[in-house]
Amino acid sequence: MKNILFVASEGVPFIKTGGLADVVGSLPKCVDHEYFDVRVMLPKYTCMTQKMKDLMEYKTHFYMDFHWRNEYVGILEAKVDGVIYYFIDNESYFNGFKPYSGNVLDDIEKFAFFSKAALSAIPLIGFVPDLIHCHDWQTGLVPVYLKERFQGNELFRGMKSVMTIHNLKFQGRWDVKSVRDITGIPAYYFTPDKLESYKDANLLKGGLVYADAITTVSDTYAEEIKTPFYGEGLDGLLKARSNDLRGIVNGIDYEEYNPETDPYIEVHYNAKNFRKEKVKNKHALQKELNLEVDDKKMMIGIVSRLTDQKGFDLIAYIMDELCHDEVQIVVLGTGEERYENMFRHFDWKYGNKVSANIYYSEGLSHKIYAACDAFLMPSMFEPCGLSQLMSLRYGTIPIVRETGGLKDTVQPYNEYDGTGTGFSFANYNAHEMLASIRYAEKIYYDRKREWNKLVDRAMATDFSWHVSARKYQEMYDWLIGDKQQQE
Ligand code: ADP
Ligand code: GLC
Repeated sequence: MKNILFVASEGVPFIKTGGLADVVGSLPKCVDHEYFDVRVMLPKYTCMTQKMKDLMEYKTHFYMDFHWRNEYVGILEAKVDGVIYYFIDNESYFNGFKPYSGNVLDDIEKFAFFSKAALSAIPLIGFVPDLIHCHDWQTGLVPVYLKERFQGNELFRGMKSVMTIHNLKFQGRWDVKSVRDITGIPAYYFTPDKLESYKDANLLKGGLVYADAITTVSDTYAEEIKTPFYGEGLDGLLKARSNDLRGIVNGIDYEEYNPETDPYIEVHYNAKNFRKEKVKNKHALQKELNLEVDDKKMMIGIVSRLTDQKGFDLIAYIMDELCHDEVQIVVLGTGEERYENMFRHFDWKYGNKVSANIYYSEGLSHKIYAACDAFLMPSMFEPCGLSQLMSLRYGTIPIVRETGGLKDTVQPYNEYDGTGTGFSFANYNAHEMLASIRYAEKIYYDRKREWNKLVDRAMATDFSWHVSARKYQEMYDWLIGDKQQQE
């Protein structure tokens, strides 16, 4: 049995702000439990729901030196769907209405604390990992602390680490002096070949330098981040470590996202009966959102964090033009105010065609995946993207820009040989996107049988975890095997 510990800042069903939580919540369930014991460690945020907190059981606590203080570290445990979760408790660090405060320095201190506490907790939980799997900048210091202080201890000797990049844009950067002060990591580590990057300290970079292997969430993104445009200043390092870097495309939880059983949606359907049944969800959503009730009207969905990563500048640019077409647009998202207001504006202007829902709702997101005919995701960059996978699963045809995971998971429609699962365009250009949307409209309205075959193919794709979980297992095997040989 090989022991793997995920250390991450969010995970379904406990806390979620984006796709990272979906991955952390679903991958451990799908790894082969005969050979791997995968457990997850998360912060215990005060903003978690009471229902989730009630699942946790206090295990123990200790005090840890951190940032010139002696801090309380509580450890709690819960078991959900066969996976054991550990929670690091400290109310002064993990308070607030959401996991990330948005204040970079505060967040750096919070997650530096979490990273050190996660390692310090290991001797007390009765579970010694062979490998620690870290996710994104928040846990970038885990491989660093492991190397810098923990590996001197017998229990940690030979323990491996993997760093998975879900989004290279966020790195946890601040001036060296403050970060040294907070983390207690010696000056030796803050040089340009280690934690320093463009004069600042960079937590993700630390993880990328010290992890035994690096993964990211699609093949295309693994290539893209070695170039200056996508590399966010770390393309040089990623090129240098390209032998240790691989792309493994994300899957989604096929039980949670299943149109045949989904408790959130009006009418269940499957690949055989979607022609009759799926549209009933559209009908219900039109009523719910006060859109014109018309089964035949093409409905386009957007479920997203409203940030510039997701291509909302393109949408803003052509929204007036698009609203003159025979379409309805349903948006669910929160984020930057300028995009929230942009969608509110078009909702006001084209009330019976556009529905802007500026909030977070698990339920409405499922209804949108089920109800819409198409799903729009014109990202500027997209490490993997899960929304398009959820759309495919619900027979909702993605319209995407060919970047990162969108390129790897959506096969463009080819009307000549009758292949493809969606529509795509290459350049970050608003009218190129509009042309793709209009091509989709044309097929939807004029060649309904062709459209339905697209839905057939979309629903036949398989983005459950079973293929990708195997790739993670191979990597774990390879790294841990290496460790066992050394011993
Ligand atoms: P990212 O992680 O970059 O935000 P992904 O496509 O990987 O993008 O994952 C986004 C996840 O968050 C999906 O599960 C999507 O359904 C969900 N999501 C995004 N915004 C909302 C919202 N406002 N309400 C409910 N779910 C949302
Ligand atoms: C990030 C990326 C998204 C990816 C998700 C899960 O939030 O933006 O593309 O799907 O992580 O890996």
